[in-house]
Amino acid sequence: MKEHKTIQVKEKTFVISIPESELQEQIKRVAAEISRDYAGCQPVFLAVLNGSFIFAADLLREIDLHCEISFVKLASYEGTKTTGSVREVIGLNVDITGRPVIIVEDIVDTGLTMAHMLDTLKAQNPASIDICTLLLKPSKLQVKLDIRYCCKEIPDDFVVGYGLDYDGFGRNTKDIYTIIK
Ligand code: IMP
Repeated sequence: MKEHKTIQVKEKTFVISIPESELQEQIKRVAAEISRDYAGCQPVFLAVLNGSFIFAADLLREIDLHCEISFVKLASYEGTKTTGSVREVIGLNVDITGRPVIIVEDIVDTGLTMAHMLDTLKAQNPASIDICTLLLKPSKLQVKLDIRYCCKEIPDDFVVGYGLDYDGFGRNTKDIYTIIK
């Protein structure tokens, strides 16, 4: 979609808050950190669908390692409020036993999704697990989470774009937008 200062997604209005250039700069920074920290390793990236599909595609192309990627699903969100209910991890078709795993997430809000994901994956005895998130809302965190890689911390406002949605819509922008009304 073309760049607009404000966009309408269903009945809500959003204003541009993180331009594409800033996203790409931060993604390059994080990819360089991962490539440095995992030098000599062959990690498995697990991208959490649907929200991380664009982030994962951009991040992976900046990673300077021999690596694999698999896409998993685990949703806990509807509309603009977290439901608090979490579902099972589906689509994990790589054996992660003894492998270093990096979870690729679009946004960490309460952290419940990531906490559940970590519990589920640890049961399969990976060598290690790190979290890499595009966005983090630190003021919303309800659980203690060690987030090793984060592109950007944001305030407690609902955002869309660059893969993130409002009720299924608004994923197809290059920039990120914050709700205004
Ligand atoms: P958590 O379990 O509360 O951390 O929620 C994480 C999930 O909620 C993310 O993977 C997103 O799918 C969704 N989410 C949280 N905040 C936002 C937002 O501001 N915009 C779009 N989706 C969000």
